[in-house]
Amino acid sequence: MSSACHEFSRYAAEYGSRNVIQRLVAQKLIASTPDQPKFILDLGCGNGTLYSLIDWEVERFVGIDFSASMLEHHPATSNVELILGDFNDPELFERLRNERFDRIYSASALQWADDLESVFKSLTSLNTPMSLAIFTAGTFKTLHKCAGVTPLLRSSDEVIAIAEKYVDAQFEVLHTTLEFDSVREMFRYIKRSGVSGGRRVLDFAQTKQLMVTYPLNYLEFEIVFITSIA
Ligand SMILES: C[S@@+](CC[C@H](N)C(=O)[O-])C[C@H]1O[C@@H](n2cnc3c(N)ncnc32)[C@H](O)[C@@H]1O
Repeated sequence: MSSACHEFSRYAAEYGSRNVIQRLVAQKLIASTPDQPKFILDLGCGNGTLYSLIDWEVERFVGIDFSASMLEHHPATSNVELILGDFNDPELFERLRNERFDRIYSASALQWADDLESVFKSLTSLNTPMSLAIFTAGTFKTLHKCAGVTPLLRSSDEVIAIAEKYVDAQFEVLHTTLEFDSVREMFRYIKRSGVSGGRRVLDFAQTKQLMVTYPLNYLEFEIVFITSIA
């Protein structure tokens, strides 16, 4: 049911590189799409990473995000509608129910669902195939272990168990790493990348301690990919 594969990237301290993992995730979602959907819903669309990677013609793209400043940076063409909305809110899906969608995407966002099960209930009410990528607890695994902190995110098993109740899908667990030239650069990335969802992974004392003791020159990421056929 689930397979694991390893991919490696290197962090380059240049503009745009802080989203290197999210970009890889969105690329993989697009590449694994079995068809070329023309009517698309993107939950947690952010500044449009996924939209920008679509290489076929789209008739309508609806992007939802609860951050107005992210939406401001999303490409806005005549076939794009951007909605300021919260995917934790079932009413949002009520509103979307009368629309036609061929596929629902969500890249690197649903790990922040308050209640993932309830979001899946809302998602299935749209009766649409989906391609979702959700970060899971193996993300920053060694870092959490060294600092003695519990991961913020759900485990991959938990995410798959919830999803299986609602969708007939293929699951893949991707393990990937991102290498850094220095520990300082690594911690700067954690702060700025958005992977920690704006929440503080470590306090100041823990960060200082870890900068000395973290044994790796890379960070670990774990992402569950969920692709439903129908
Ligand atoms: C790590 S970014 C990923 C953005 C984009 N999908 C990508 O692949 O680059 C996560 C996005 O999810 C959005 N987000 C998080 N929680 C949300 C919620 N409850 N409702 C809507 N958007 C949410 C954030 O504002 C952010 O833009």
